[in-house]
Amino acid sequence: MAARSGDLQDGSVLGADVNGVQVALYRIDGTVHATSNICTHEVALLSDGYLDGDCIECPLHQAVFHVPTGEVRSAPATEPILTYPAKEEADQILVELPD
Ligand code: FES
Repeated sequence: MAARSGDLQDGSVLGADVNGVQVALYRIDGTVHATSNICTHEVALLSDGYLDGDCIECPLHQAVFHVPTGEVRSAPATEPILTYPAKEEADQILVELPD
């Protein structure tokens, strides 16, 4: 389990450690999403950034990533962030990490 459903309000982002992987959890229009929590530009936690609609802005140099796809929407980052399948079951947020 990455987090409890009640810990993630709509329109917010939350950092979580899932089996040693830094994951950012988002709830956008009621749907849970998960990405890597580490910016691909330098080292900053996206969960400390600003969620604007379905995009997350890095707190350090303001790169913007599209949460559902991980695509870069604004420099200085050039590499997308990893996205992970996420779902909710019985008040728990579950994230599927690659093997
Ligand atoms: S560390 Fe995220 S934009 Fe630079």
